[in-house]
Amino acid sequence: MSEQTATEGKTYPPDPELSKTANVRPEMKDQDLREFWDEQAKARLDWFQDYDEVLDWNLPYAKWFVGGKLNACYNCVDRHVEGGKGDKVALHVVPDEGPDSPEARDITFSDLQREVVKMANGLKELGVGKGVPVGIYMQMIPEAVVAMLACARLGAPHTVVFGGFSGKAVAERCNDLECKVLITQDEAMRGGKSGAQKTNADEGLDAGPTTVEKVVVVKRSGADIPMGDRDIYLDDLTANVSDDPESCPCEPMDSEDLLFLLYTSGSTGKPKGVVHTTAGYLLGVATTHNLVFDVKDDSVYWCAADIGWITGHSYITYGPLANGCTSVLYEGVPGYPDKDVWWKIVEKYGVTILYTSPTAIKSHMKWGEQHAQGHDLSSIRILGSVGEPINPDVWEWYREHVGGGKAPIMDTWWQTETGHILITPLPGITHLKPGMAQQPFPGVRPEIRDDEGNQLGVEQTGNLVLTQPWPGMMRTLYNDDERFRDTYWSKYSDAYFAGDGAKYDADGDIQLMGRIDDVVNVSGHRLSTFEVESALVEHADVAEAAVAARKDDDTGQAIVAFVSLRGDKQGTEELEQALREQVAQSIGKLARPATVIFASDLPKTRSGKIMRRLLKNLAEGEELGDTSTLVDPTVVEEMQKQMNS
Ligand code: WT7
Repeated sequence: MSEQTATEGKTYPPDPELSKTANVRPEMKDQDLREFWDEQAKARLDWFQDYDEVLDWNLPYAKWFVGGKLNACYNCVDRHVEGGKGDKVALHVVPDEGPDSPEARDITFSDLQREVVKMANGLKELGVGKGVPVGIYMQMIPEAVVAMLACARLGAPHTVVFGGFSGKAVAERCNDLECKVLITQDEAMRGGKSGAQKTNADEGLDAGPTTVEKVVVVKRSGADIPMGDRDIYLDDLTANVSDDPESCPCEPMDSEDLLFLLYTSGSTGKPKGVVHTTAGYLLGVATTHNLVFDVKDDSVYWCAADIGWITGHSYITYGPLANGCTSVLYEGVPGYPDKDVWWKIVEKYGVTILYTSPTAIKSHMKWGEQHAQGHDLSSIRILGSVGEPINPDVWEWYREHVGGGKAPIMDTWWQTETGHILITPLPGITHLKPGMAQQPFPGVRPEIRDDEGNQLGVEQTGNLVLTQPWPGMMRTLYNDDERFRDTYWSKYSDAYFAGDGAKYDADGDIQLMGRIDDVVNVSGHRLSTFEVESALVEHADVAEAAVAARKDDDTGQAIVAFVSLRGDKQGTEELEQALREQVAQSIGKLARPATVIFASDLPKTRSGKIMRRLLKNLAEGEELGDTSTLVDPTVVEEMQKQMNS
């Protein structure tokens, strides 16, 4: 759990000018839940058929906009073209080589429509249609957004697998959702290097039985990669198809039809397939995007996340496009080709809203403010932060050096499961406090409770729960309703259990304190200790593994792996490397342990249970406390020696 506290007593009142012009109105907070979302639904979305009921409360199975019909792609693309905004830029595409590269280009809403229609028509030829699931395993190229929208157009649920995950992760997720088609790209281009993408997918798919019958390959690097019977280039698939929207009308979907699954890590077991449906999700992301970031017609918005995570789904693809907003889509990584590439992007496109993670801001902070200072960032009006608690000093740096000492920072708390932002300051309303997400979005009712269900008072850390439904909430876990109820709705029968610690301050502002379960947050990427442990024990030399997290200045948390070896195997440096590689192969590079500690055994109680509390303390370098219930206390001493060396 994070121990940072907000800078004592420091608040930043809203700019009066912003209070006058902000899209969000203070009275929205007092509006009736149904009335608020009904108004938003009528104002923000186009419906093929009106809904009969705003909300069927019935938690944990709330339904929204019951009886309505709509299409997410229609709302993100077609209606803007039909409404005369076809020539507006939807995406400023910035390639890995940066905004000065000749590959940088703009995609208007009309262009986007043509691309989506073409891909959808191509997918139709492979048998994709309403209810036929599709996997997407790509990097940050426009075709990734096009692929999501093409699926939505056809009513085909998608599951995007983060491009940095392993082929094994792709195959597992595709099999779970029974994807018939996988869309990928030849190679990844990041940080000036090309890396395997399609061949990663092949390795995963070829390792066992797979439901995937066709792999569509987008050309990015143009490398000569092996293509088999299962594979087809997107260019070939769409060579003779129409790009006329009438050739591929948007499929009318029920409000509660599945839009996508996104797999995320839980504290135990295999990744969870989080179910998001069409109307509530789309409205939730559109409304929060508009009100939290105060989006205007001429806004230029940049969310520097990856479409492989929920942030990319909600705030790169669906939210901004539903709002007809111009966005930057950036393929690269911070720091390449130069440490000031981000600020070049802001300057070139006149970015007005920047949404990123504390980890990214920390990298910029480390490189120094001179990089930002060399560029005109005066277009920036609003800043956003997401993914992990932001330290007050990082918050102050962001405001000062990126926000020109005045742009308000929206520290947005939410989760893959919540679909959209739930706790956040609001522009023009909230008196900002560095390091705190502060206030519930209109209609959201948080409480902080102890384990017995009592509501806690000021400065008492407890469990964050939500007592009212919101439109983008997960509907269930795919094929695992029992796990859905166990994980989120069993701790308290009447509220959603988020898995985060939080506390109220004296003003009623909320501070998030980090996860309370075995979920680790590395650079804003969510991993479970269990998944990493499972990857480690796949290595032939490993007998047992247990994973804990320690605080890390750069990545928020870092993974510490405690490993006992088989027989007389020795914990060498080579083996440590091999284990890190094992984890990279099995999950992805971002899950590699920062530290590996070898021991003859793991610390166990007499009943044979690994003492996880002790490992957490060891990883964090904290006092160990009572070790008397251990079978063999010397293993802990052995571990402690290695931690200190
Ligand atoms: C977990 C959810 C939300 C999209 C990206 C991550 C942590 C997220 C904040 C914040 C403190 C935060 C929580 C949450 N988290 N935003 N502003 N302040 N913590 O989505 O992978 O589902 O992870 O990220 O611990 O439970 P995710």
